[in-house]
Amino acid sequence: RPGAQRWVPPAGDVDALRRAAPGCRGCELWAGATQVVFSVGSERARIALVGEQPGDREDRTGEPFVGPAGDVLADALTAAGIERTAVYLTNAVKHFRFTERGKRRIHKTPGVAHVEACRPWLEAELAAVGPAVIVCLGATAARAVLGREVRVGEVRGQALEGDGGVRVVVTTHPSAVLRLRGKPEWDEAFDALVADLRAAAA
Ligand code: URA
Ligand code: SF4
Repeated sequence: RPGAQRWVPPAGDVDALRRAAPGCRGCELWAGATQVVFSVGSERARIALVGEQPGDREDRTGEPFVGPAGDVLADALTAAGIERTAVYLTNAVKHFRFTERGKRRIHKTPGVAHVEACRPWLEAELAAVGPAVIVCLGATAARAVLGREVRVGEVRGQALEGDGGVRVVVTTHPSAVLRLRGKPEWDEAFDALVADLRAAAA
């Protein structure tokens, strides 16, 4: 099948996966991006957090969640009493998808085809880490982890079941919270994200 599978080393640990990922040509997104953005965090983490795809800052630095949405996530993890070092942090799609507007690169949501193409990486990572719980940050991550469409608003915070019976919790993407900054809805959205993270960690 098309997609990343042929670039994913069999039975690789996370370091082996990380070393192989720059060579991936499983979809066309590698061509426009600066570099692949793999994961950060311990292979022994109890909690795996799955985001959507790297953003502009992540594309430039090569590290996930170092931009503004990452700051929201870091604040939410702190508020939930979860150490960032205790989580394994990755994305459903490993290359930045964007459209150019003048000098700016505007985030473009990855399509189902990109999520499908990139899923072998995510599956291999999650197999290597073996977390007790997988937290999906937003609908794209949920699509990648559960293999089906869910409405975040309907399932958020619930204990769902992923491959092999692993517990899966879906919550909003931190960039959805970020967009509410300075608005009256911000507190509620942030608190809901924290509550879902806390429920996942319990
Ligand atoms: N940064 C990431 O690494 N992933 C996201 O999903 C959003 C921002
Ligand atoms: Fe490979 Fe995923 Fe990058 Fe596509 S987005 S080239 S499947 S690593």
